[in-house]
Amino acid sequence: MMDTVLITGGTGLVGQALTTFLLEKGYKVIILTRKKLRSDDPHLQYALWDPSRKLLDTTALQQADHIIHLAGANVADKRWTTSRKKEIADSRIQSARLLFERLRDTPNKVRKVISASATGYYGAFNGDVFTETDPPARDYLGNTCKDWEDSIRQMETLGKHVVILRTGLVLSLKGGVIREFYQPLRLGFATIMGGGEQWVSWIHLQDLVRIYYAAIVNDQMQGAYNAVAPHPVTNKDLVLSLARIAKGKSFVTMHVPAFVLQVAVGEMSVEVLKSVKVSSEKIRQTGFQFSYPEVEEALEQILSAARKK
Ligand SMILES: NC(=O)c1ccc[n+]([C@@H]2O[C@H](COP(=O)([O-])OP(=O)(O)OC[C@H]3O[C@@H](n4cnc5c(N)ncnc54)[C@H](OP(=O)(O)O)[C@@H]3O)[C@@H](O)[C@H]2O)c1
Repeated sequence: MMDTVLITGGTGLVGQALTTFLLEKGYKVIILTRKKLRSDDPHLQYALWDPSRKLLDTTALQQADHIIHLAGANVADKRWTTSRKKEIADSRIQSARLLFERLRDTPNKVRKVISASATGYYGAFNGDVFTETDPPARDYLGNTCKDWEDSIRQMETLGKHVVILRTGLVLSLKGGVIREFYQPLRLGFATIMGGGEQWVSWIHLQDLVRIYYAAIVNDQMQGAYNAVAPHPVTNKDLVLSLARIAKGKSFVTMHVPAFVLQVAVGEMSVEVLKSVKVSSEKIRQTGFQFSYPEVEEALEQILSAARKK
């Protein structure tokens, strides 16, 4: 019998791709979601929870061999008002605490707890590429990632094996930032954010899914890993590569000045303008090989897959 993997927030961008991958490998997948959903696939099941009300279907927990914690209010969807910032943090941290309490109080066979975290853990690039031993930044995202990771590490006290993936910007046309850049490109505009010199530590969605899988099957993996491709690029290179692949030469380059971004998206603009440069050395040391180490190949694949649809 193949293992059962319980994925919190498995309905999102990463969760959907991971679910497809695991089902193809023969795993059973249970998605923990706030929505009432039904599956026609006997290997895929949905179970209900509502972390804000401390509700969780513990029968799902009892079936699981591994838990993957992806749930969390989207960081880029809405303006960072005070209440949204609280929701972003709570949806990750309170939900992890709920998982902890239920695992503590319910007999279960869960061996591994694998969780998303983000490169926002480290803060802005200051001349040294960040590695996993660097401390968290003392800003909103740094504090949030630290508390999120701490709430997951608590599972170690229950004898669970913990892996945390500090994820970079996920490249996929199905969602996330590339879709945002792609909209103006349809009209012929390549929109560079601010000066465009800021570093972006990115990862192709398929590589990220393969790292989650590695965390399930490779028992040597433990603790935090940066989930980013080996070659970060500047915002300008990312936007112009995408424009060239999608449009050849027929596009106009536009800079969106920092103050316009600030007005348009508020405090989140800091994140778009921040330089993020993070090392992939530790995950490569585990033997993991990236299918898309270079941004051009990653974007070519994403756009050609989109064209075939
Ligand atoms: N995509 C990226 O570029 C990126 C980069 C760094 C880190 N990450 C992290 O990786 C994880 C997965 O990312 P993703 O892009 O797949 O996210 P996503 O598409 O936004 O999906 C996250 C899922 O979380 C659940 N969720 C949303 N709000 C919630 C709330 N208030 N309480 C409980 N659950 C809630 C939703 O599932 P239901 O509605 O079904 O409950 C949603 O489908 C996230 O934690 C994210 O922070 C992503």
